[in-house]
Amino acid sequence: MSKGSFYITTPIYYPSDNLHIGHAYTTVAADTVARYKRMTGYDTRFLTGSDEHGQKIQRTAKSKGMEPKEYVDKIVAGFKHLWKTLEVSYDDFIRTTEERHKKVVQDIFVRLYEQGDIYKSEYEGWYCTPCETFWTERQAEGKECPDCGRPVELVKEESYFFRMSKYADRLLKHIEDNPEFIQPVSRRNEMINFIRQGLEDLCVSRTTFDWGIPVPFDPKHVIYVWVDALTNYYSALAGGQPDDSLVKKYWPADVHLVGKDIVRFHTIIWPIILMAAGIELPKKVVGHGWLLLEGGKMSKSKGNVIDPLVLVDKYGVDAIRYYLLRELPFGADGYYSEDALIQRINSDLANDLGNLVSRSVAMVEKYFGGEVRPPAEQDAVDRDLIKTAGDAVREYEQLMEKYELSNALGAVWRLVSRANKYIDETAPWLLAKDESRAARLSTVLYNLMETIRVITVMVSPFMPLLPPRIWEQTGLTGAEQAITWESLKNWGGYPAGTRVKRGPALFPRIEAANAAEQEQPEVQTESKKESMANISIEEFARIDLRVAEILKAEKVEKADKLLKLEVALGSERRTLVAGIAKHYSPDELVGKKIIIVANLKPAKLRGILSEGMILAASEGENLGIITVDPEKNIRSGAKVK
Ligand code: MSP
Repeated sequence: MSKGSFYITTPIYYPSDNLHIGHAYTTVAADTVARYKRMTGYDTRFLTGSDEHGQKIQRTAKSKGMEPKEYVDKIVAGFKHLWKTLEVSYDDFIRTTEERHKKVVQDIFVRLYEQGDIYKSEYEGWYCTPCETFWTERQAEGKECPDCGRPVELVKEESYFFRMSKYADRLLKHIEDNPEFIQPVSRRNEMINFIRQGLEDLCVSRTTFDWGIPVPFDPKHVIYVWVDALTNYYSALAGGQPDDSLVKKYWPADVHLVGKDIVRFHTIIWPIILMAAGIELPKKVVGHGWLLLEGGKMSKSKGNVIDPLVLVDKYGVDAIRYYLLRELPFGADGYYSEDALIQRINSDLANDLGNLVSRSVAMVEKYFGGEVRPPAEQDAVDRDLIKTAGDAVREYEQLMEKYELSNALGAVWRLVSRANKYIDETAPWLLAKDESRAARLSTVLYNLMETIRVITVMVSPFMPLLPPRIWEQTGLTGAEQAITWESLKNWGGYPAGTRVKRGPALFPRIEAANAAEQEQPEVQTESKKESMANISIEEFARIDLRVAEILKAEKVEKADKLLKLEVALGSERRTLVAGIAKHYSPDELVGKKIIIVANLKPAKLRGILSEGMILAASEGENLGIITVDPEKNIRSGAKVK
């Protein structure tokens, strides 16, 4: 029976570029909470999406010679591919360019205007385009954005304003009366101080660009991108629906999970919009910390972004999800390093959990021919293990309810350690030597299989691909595999009489050689004096050669030599136009992995923007494209060197 509804959201990401491991952290955290809630019996709805309007997106698209919509379509396809790869189980994906969203944003804007909460005036101040944020003269001192440090632009234009100041006291009271509203408490205090300093009315429209939702009664204005974006949480339920059943069921949202940098928008602007519109406020906003690199923030301009797809390829989805959620303490920042990731895989996953499963299964095979016998009387050491399991379940539940994901994993791992210690304490290899102790050995091995079952259920929201791999070894099939929270209420859910089967290591250890391997191109220095005919290795390294997988191929109308190709480059999608139509039919190309020059300046061919060049060899009339050895299964996006 359902315990009620639970609505959780992630921020909607800017499709100005592909997402990195920091963005993946937010979404994987939300996915884990959503999976946990579903498992514990809530009718859960999990929303993510893309924030597609604004000056920054318009400028980025233009710099690539593309229309904004064409550009965001491509990037958003990459988002969806990333979430699929990371096993993100969203129920709805909202794009702010969808009609269902636009209509709700416009309706709210008109409502606020008609009731006098939005008025027309003139804006003069500073704007940070990357953050899409307005700043006052004092805040933008030094002409730098106080949030990101990048230069701000002076903006002077006729604008609509939202009377935020009118609602400041009501908001403050709401925050004070509802200590749970902003989590963690440090962010709550920050917001209280911010509001106490007084809220200025917010500029909520722009006229100097047009990539946004028009103000219906004054269409030369587009609605400020943050007002547009924040409304997604509501429009995803209210927009484009035949009735208000989704709103009734899921609004107010139970939690908006966001990064610390955007807590202010979610706990000040968003609640005030809702108050003014007469809509209930979300129950909670949780602001998590940032995943940093030793050198500071990840950013494309620094060239230090970590691509989650590369990591998943190398280490697997479950290991990456585990690492992200274990490494960042609740609400605080954490540092990413590949060494720390490998360390976690080798110690927590391979040594602790992997060995617990493989040792236990191996002992059942060795001592009882693979059959798990029913337990007999439980000793003090057994009772201690059973109590530790019960405590871990309770602790895990409490921590998950507070979004303390890393600590919840800590509680599970205390049980993993306890179980490993239990093996040493009970020494099944000694029991096996003594016929008269067979009942005792049955009890010990049964307790281990049951502990593994309890652990598997608890880790399932974090590592969704793991349970079936464990069940395969511990012999659970069919209905017994169902991961139910209920089944943890009592000890003994593992059915005695089950047959186990040893399988491959759940998490093979990563060897040091692999650990040292870097993704970056190895640019060697070349001291030899170069002749005119030779180029240096550095010059060669400037050509970004990549493996690309052909996803789609079609003829270009009225150009009998050209084919238009859609290719994948890791999470990125690109369009290429290639003069190979006389040598290949579109069908035979799909699925091939080819090599492209990825950093060739884009060029328009027959009105289509080609973003790279494919490599081919030709001799006389003959032409063959260069493909990557299909046996080696090299991923798309891999560097060719
Ligand atoms: N589009 C806005 C959000 C609108 S929500 C109504 C936006 N987008 S974003 O793509 O720039 O960032 C989305 C989220 O990713 C934010 O919560 C941000 O905190 C998070 N992260 C970006 N880099 C991050 C890390 N390095 N580490 C953790 N989270 C990070 O802001």
